[in-house]
Amino acid sequence: MATKTGRGSRIKGAAREGQERANERLVHGPCTFVVFGGTGDLAKRKILPALSRLRKEGLITDDTTILAVSRDTGMDDRSYRDVVRAAIEDDGMDPKEIEHWVETAVFYQGIGKGEPDDFKALARRVVELETQRGQPPNRIFYLALPPNVFPSTIQGLGEAGLGRSTTGTGNGTSYWTRLVIEKPFGRDLQSAEALNQLIHKYFNESQVYRIDHYLGKETVQNLLIFRFANSVFESLWNRDHVESVQVTVAEELGIEGRAAYYEQAGAVRDIVQNHGTQLIALVAMEVPAMMNAEFIRQEKVKALRSIKALTPKNVVLGQYGHGEINDQAIPGYREEPGVAPNSRTETFAAIKLEIDSWRWQGVPFFLRTGKRMKKRVTEIVVKFRRPPVWMFTPLGSPDVHRNTLRLTIQPDEGFALYFHVKAPGKPLKLERLPLDFFYKERFPELPEAYQTLLLDVIDGDQTLFVHADEVEAAWKLFTPILDNTLAVSFYAAGSWGPKESDELLQRNGQKWTNEPRRE
Ligand code: BG6
Repeated sequence: MATKTGRGSRIKGAAREGQERANERLVHGPCTFVVFGGTGDLAKRKILPALSRLRKEGLITDDTTILAVSRDTGMDDRSYRDVVRAAIEDDGMDPKEIEHWVETAVFYQGIGKGEPDDFKALARRVVELETQRGQPPNRIFYLALPPNVFPSTIQGLGEAGLGRSTTGTGNGTSYWTRLVIEKPFGRDLQSAEALNQLIHKYFNESQVYRIDHYLGKETVQNLLIFRFANSVFESLWNRDHVESVQVTVAEELGIEGRAAYYEQAGAVRDIVQNHGTQLIALVAMEVPAMMNAEFIRQEKVKALRSIKALTPKNVVLGQYGHGEINDQAIPGYREEPGVAPNSRTETFAAIKLEIDSWRWQGVPFFLRTGKRMKKRVTEIVVKFRRPPVWMFTPLGSPDVHRNTLRLTIQPDEGFALYFHVKAPGKPLKLERLPLDFFYKERFPELPEAYQTLLLDVIDGDQTLFVHADEVEAAWKLFTPILDNTLAVSFYAAGSWGPKESDELLQRNGQKWTNEPRRE
């Protein structure tokens, strides 16, 4: 049980009154945290370091049992503890404390070929550990696995009695079981629906935590605070005042040796359907009745459902050819190991979304994402309408003088509102200046997304996780453009994408905002 802290409203900061209260957060757990794919890349890079940071900060204790599961037959408790030590090497935790944590709290269970008997053996091991360690049957099953084994794992858990049947009460205390699923959740609408059906056969939706790690980013959570705790912005957040919205998720990175995955995925499945859509939903949603998981997720679903079906003329797909980033020569996508020489997989997408709602009717939302772009930036740009009458024509066109709000999700987290000032003296001159805020100038450190999300799973807070309806609404929108019929244009690595992406905005009287926030 969480001994303290704001359950219910988990939008960090909303439930807090300043840093002091945040520091009051106490111990969460105890439970058994079962990590499927315990020897995999995600576990080593993200999950284990996040758990150790939570342990280091005292947010979990040695009472949170970590039980790693994998098909690795040569592994046991002792050798898995070495995997954990290696994964958290640089974490700054006191070596004695690490030793104590690893030796006391970390265990390993092989799952063989994933046969029903293997899952029964896992169920026995979970109970055995709970009994030995005198712990309640509170369980988390985290599927840090390739998506092709999600179904068999979910079924294996369910058939072994580890699904909804394990939740219940005892001695007046309620016990829980939670299922955490990594992305990608399905490949299209049909597969996502099938996966949801399978999950719901064994688990209630209230037990399911679909991860989109963007929701764990402080700056993404801050979108709700920004909008709903500041009347000055919310009153402008509509078609009367906003001319257009741009969302950019640009990466300098390429596919980082993940050709096998990326060739099957592409930018729409990898980023647009999940991270990009979440950002759009948070910007476009209505005010929730209350700041809790149920109401926030309902509003996000409503916003997604009011987006009009996409038309091909509003979609630009691209693939990077060779180019240069930071003076380094970058090979083209088709030259990456494991990529087909004639691959049509898109590494870039720019899409115009039209939201059919009272709030947003007629305001275009542009979403773009790309690998090997000029620079890494995730940003939301809200352009406000020009003044109804522009009195300063001799000083410049009103087009260059729109008020613009830039919410930077990463890097240089923060925001800037651009407005006009009179430069002192004569002749009259206007200057466009930002009123800005940078997280790093104000707060020492932003927690890593996984740290936030794991704690929320332990606390039973679903706000930052994707509901079944949400994931299906997003697939419904993007599945029609995944049929390989759209042209794929080329762009040079190190650019802002194909020219067709600029043309998409030009056709709508807009221009992508590419310059740095502090010009
Ligand atoms: C992942 C994608 O979900 O998000 C990757 O699979 C991408 O391709 C990554 O690089 C981006 O995450 P972040 O947090 O670095 O913006």
